[in-house]
Amino acid sequence: MQPGRRPFRGRRVLLGVSGGIAAYKAILVARELTLAGALVDVVLTPGALEFLQPLSFEALTGRTAHTTAFESAQPLIHIRLARGADVVVVAPATANFLARAAAGMADDLLTATLLATDAPVVLCPAMNDRMYAHPQTQANLLRLREIGYRIAGPAVGPLAWGEGEGPGRLLEPGEIVAHAGRALEGETVFRGRRVLVTAGPTREPIDPVRFIGNRSSGRMGYALAAAAWRRGAQVTLITGPCSLPPPTGAELVQVETAEEMREAVALALPTADALVMAAAVADFQPGTPAAEKIKKAAGGITSIELRAAPDVLRTTRALRPEGCVVVGFALETHAPVENGRLKLAGKGLDLLVVNDATEPGAGFETATNRVTILSPGAPDEALPLLTKEEVADRILDRVAPLLRSPAAR
Ligand code: CTP
Repeated sequence: MQPGRRPFRGRRVLLGVSGGIAAYKAILVARELTLAGALVDVVLTPGALEFLQPLSFEALTGRTAHTTAFESAQPLIHIRLARGADVVVVAPATANFLARAAAGMADDLLTATLLATDAPVVLCPAMNDRMYAHPQTQANLLRLREIGYRIAGPAVGPLAWGEGEGPGRLLEPGEIVAHAGRALEGETVFRGRRVLVTAGPTREPIDPVRFIGNRSSGRMGYALAAAAWRRGAQVTLITGPCSLPPPTGAELVQVETAEEMREAVALALPTADALVMAAAVADFQPGTPAAEKIKKAAGGITSIELRAAPDVLRTTRALRPEGCVVVGFALETHAPVENGRLKLAGKGLDLLVVNDATEPGAGFETATNRVTILSPGAPDEALPLLTKEEVADRILDRVAPLLRSPAAR
């Protein structure tokens, strides 16, 4: 198989770069897309050439970067680039570029290519905050949305030197790549569906500074949220404390305890088409957390009395909307499939993803996982050792046929 990952492997991305200082980020976008397996054709506007040279892109993509519609050896280059593209991404899209695109101009290779393509188009604006706020720019963005172009960003944050902070900052390279991925997925059954994902550990307080936690990194749940958003879903990610960057596009709800996770899930569940409980929720919590820090000098403590924490997944049984697909996880240290089958029935699940905590490369704090997917009335699906991102896609492949058509809801 070709190197790379879904949905970039072997796909053609046309990366347009217009002339703003944020153009430096386009180099990283080209690199990330190439590493993800895409064939990246870069087009630089005359303005972009004031900041960057084609050579930088060519060294990273292994492909010719284009600057003019009038190369003698490349007649009709705009038509060939437009027809070949699976997605067009313009990053940065300056105020001038947006104005020209909104007016339907074809006065350079990039705007000409845009007019000639049927591929989805993602425009990533970047400019000074006042230029962004100007009614002309806002009207241009409205027009471009009407045409069907996707507008990704801008972010709010530090602008060019001396310009302070504001809306107008180009998205980060990873976010731009995520938007390109969502556009490349095209129509999937996840489009417009609401997917609720839980991730990470919970923390159960012993006193105001100490807690009982676990080794969950949140990686599996974050990968699921990212993959569901990429496939077009509206994603809510309810997460315990994790050090991972929030996945692009997901609405993030941060919680600490099992009880807070139960409340957040109960709030979001009524409109969910799928619930994926990847969080490692505490099974036990201190019965009476101390109101003040427990001091050694005052005798300290030698034991903690525990009581059962709420079983979030079980509490959702009465709240699940009709047709909601429910996915649970189980981490076992012995007889994983047999124990998993019991959980599948006991928690009323459509799918249960089981991993064996004793296997190398599986479970907590690893980038990989080896799981078996159980489902009522279907044979067990034992997957090989895969990255957590790949596991996420295999799980969503099993969720997809279970999602009811919107008309049936
Ligand atoms: N889970 C939950 N609330 C809890 C504990 C677990 O919602 N307090 C969910 C997890 O998110 C996971 C599933 O239940 O999707 C299975 O968790 P696991 O801890 O493996 O199962 P338990 O039912 O807690 O059984 P045990 O720990 O005894 O194996």
